[in-house]
Amino acid sequence: MDRLLIHGGRPLEGTTRASGSKNSSLPILAATLLASEPVCLNSLPHLRDITTMVELLVELGANVSVDERLGVTVDTNTIRVLRAPYDLVRKMRASFLVLGPLLARYGKVEVSLPGGCAIGTRPVDQHLKALEQMGADLVIEDGYVKASCDKGLVGANIRMDLVTVGGTQNVMMAATLAKGTTVIENAAREPEIVELASCLRAMGAQISGEGTETIVVEGREQLGGCMYRVMSDRIEVGTYLIAAAATGGHLRVDEACPETLGAVLAKLGDFGCRVIVDGSTIELDARGFTPSAADVRTEAYPGIPTDLQAQFMALNCVSEGQGRITETVFENRFMHVQELVRLGASIRLENPTTAVVTGVKELRGAQVMATDLRASSSLVIGALAAVGTTTISRIYHIDRGYECIEEKLRWLGADIERLHV
Ligand code: EPZ
Repeated sequence: MDRLLIHGGRPLEGTTRASGSKNSSLPILAATLLASEPVCLNSLPHLRDITTMVELLVELGANVSVDERLGVTVDTNTIRVLRAPYDLVRKMRASFLVLGPLLARYGKVEVSLPGGCAIGTRPVDQHLKALEQMGADLVIEDGYVKASCDKGLVGANIRMDLVTVGGTQNVMMAATLAKGTTVIENAAREPEIVELASCLRAMGAQISGEGTETIVVEGREQLGGCMYRVMSDRIEVGTYLIAAAATGGHLRVDEACPETLGAVLAKLGDFGCRVIVDGSTIELDARGFTPSAADVRTEAYPGIPTDLQAQFMALNCVSEGQGRITETVFENRFMHVQELVRLGASIRLENPTTAVVTGVKELRGAQVMATDLRASSSLVIGALAAVGTTTISRIYHIDRGYECIEEKLRWLGADIERLHV
């Protein structure tokens, strides 16, 4: 299993460019199942999760080709299997997003239940409840959701009991081919929802209200093909900015979608960093001072994303003073705490979702283990800021969500290498 070896203590300095967004690309790949013509996608990041979704589309029978500029064209007119198997859904929960599109287009599908994962139980009850309201017959049997709708899905007024990104996406996709109008209330407002709506619209869907709490979808007979360029990855950008802050660096990120990072940039300001936005470039200057610890509370968009909670915790570890981290989205997303403590961090868990971090003068390199995607990036940040050498094992987690991480960090002056063991 590969490991990362990091000799810490060097500030990140220079310019990097954001990759395409993983969490936008995954639902958009699922949405290709709705289109009666090929869909050509540009700027998909080169990541393991993207490969897993493409593998699933191929397993279902889709024709996927990659051109010389890495544009990916998906033709789903050749779909012949209406079953998403356990092995692929288990590997990546976002595979569950094929449920809505396949049901809407083919009237029948079996998708493995995703099960719990490292950050929480993560049920899918909201996805299922909404599809039932749209006329789907659902049974759960042998670990699979078996769904059918002989007469097609029908539009409905759906009120989500809680804000769910995947639930909103699944229902939004299903509604594009349902009969009549679907209204989704208490919808997620994340930029990845807005992206999916834009792509679906490019395919001919009629959607309004994305980015607000109420989304309205008028069903269509069929959707066509389109060309679509996926936006930048706001979580990747946030991770690099936090890494620069933790190492006392000076970083510019190009094509960074600053409009999606309002709360994050404001919070970096609370830590004392100078943040300048110029068009689509974000510049962060943290040279010559120790950041001041800050309280961080995760929330659904437009709040601080849970996907940056671990990274902000790592920043608090090397800041001056005490910062409280409160996780409100997932019930078990503190697996990185014990690993950051191995680097010398001072963290006290007040309860399962609140951690109090007291900044220390320096972290020290150690052997640590990645437990999930964002936990692993917090360890990279800790290791970059630490004195001495850190080895991070189980880095397959990081390869799910960070494109060319060693190359990008090395370009910015980090001493990092991948050990193939
Ligand atoms: C998406 O997951 C992201 N994944 C996650 O990013 C992100 O952490 C999460 O949204 C929150 O922003 C992708 O976009 C592929 P949810 P998703 O449904 O859609 C509960 C990363 O690191 N819930 O918004 O699965 C759920 O348990 C990943 O890149 C129900 O109770 O998240 C959680 O507590 C990890 N019932 C909360 O809602 C449901 O039916 C939010 O989950 C659905 C969700």
